[in-house]
Amino acid sequence: MSALVDFSQPSFWLSAASIVFNPTFWNIAARQEYHNKIITKLFGGNSRYGCYALAVTIFSLGIIRDYLYNEALSSQPSSTALQSPLISLSSIPLFLTGNTLVLTSMYALGVTGTYLGDYFGILMDAPVTSFPFNVTDAPMYHGSTLSFLATAIWKGKPAGLVLTALVAVMYKIARMYEDPFTSEIYAKREREQARGGKKGQ
Ligand SMILES: *[C@@H]1O[C@H](CO)[C@@H](O)[C@H](O)[C@H]1NC(C)=O
Repeated sequence: MSALVDFSQPSFWLSAASIVFNPTFWNIAARQEYHNKIITKLFGGNSRYGCYALAVTIFSLGIIRDYLYNEALSSQPSSTALQSPLISLSSIPLFLTGNTLVLTSMYALGVTGTYLGDYFGILMDAPVTSFPFNVTDAPMYHGSTLSFLATAIWKGKPAGLVLTALVAVMYKIARMYEDPFTSEIYAKREREQARGGKKGQ
C-alpha cells in the first residue's frame, strides 16, 4: 500500500508553514499595534490607513497561503476513496457554504471590522448579530476551514485533509488568543463610556 500522504515533499511543509505563519503574524502585528501603535506610526498617525495596510497584507498572505496549498496538493498522491463521485460532489456544497460564510461576514463587518480594526481603536458600534453571525460564532474561520476541506476532497488528496486539520488547529489557537482580548477592548470602552456618562459628558 502506498502512503496516503507524501511527507517527503517540501511543498507540503511550505504549505504547512504558511498555514501556521498567517494567524501568528496577524496576531503579533495586531498586539503590537494595540500596545505600541506600531502600524499607525508607520502611517503617520493615521490608524485607518494602518488598518487598511494590514488588511491588504493579510489578504495577500491569504492568497499566497492558498497558492502554496494548491501547489502542495498537486504533488501529493490521490486517494481512490476520496475520488468516489459521492464524496467528490460533497465538496461543492462545502465550498459554497465556506465561501458564503467568509464573504458574507466580510460584508457584514466591513474592511476594518474584518481586519482587526479593534486593535487600532476603530471599534464597531455594536457587535454584529446579523447573518452569518446568527448561525456561527466565527463564520470567517469556519468558512475558511470549510474551503480548505472542500479543496482537499475535490482534488481527492488525503494530504489536504491533514493540512485542513492544521488550519482548524491554528484557527482554534488564534481564537483562544483573540476572543478574550477583543472582548476586553470592548469591555474597556463600555467602562469608559459609563464613567464618561457619570461625569455628564
Ligand atoms: C439569520 O439571519 C438571516 C437573515 O439575516 C435569516 O434568514 C436566518 O433565518 C437567520 N438564521 C438563524 C439561525 O437565526
